[in-house]
Amino acid sequence: VTENLLELNGRVLSTDGQPVEVALMEFWQADPEGVYDEHGTRHRGNQIADANGPGTYRLLTFVPGDYKISEPGQPDEFRCAHIHVKVSASGFKTLTTQLYFLNDPHNGTDRWFDPRRVLPPSGMFDFVLERV
Ligand SMILES: [Fe+2]
Repeated sequence: VTENLLELNGRVLSTDGQPVEVALMEFWQADPEGVYDEHGTRHRGNQIADANGPGTYRLLTFVPGDYKISEPGQPDEFRCAHIHVKVSASGFKTLTTQLYFLNDPHNGTDRWFDPRRVLPPSGMFDFVLERV
């Protein structure tokens, strides 16, 4: 399995387009073979989105693998490759979401897949939080 490096950059914004000054970002994902670290912190990480300017984040990771979710004996069903993200900030509703990848072979059959959350080739992705 090739470990393809991935860099994500972007901002955390409010629905009116203003940077959220301080947001906690939690990321977790499968490894390139589609396996989660259920006991440790591998491929899991948190950061505060304000390190490089108001509301910005930068994540260095690997492209996650897809993984099978069907039970043995049932027809095969897979999750397409995805990164889980939870963004929380004081005064805003917590956002829990997933990011996807162009051309993943399982995008078309994954019940959670949403083309609006496919990472562009630039790796730039902004998250938008709703005020409470
Ligand atoms: Fe997952």
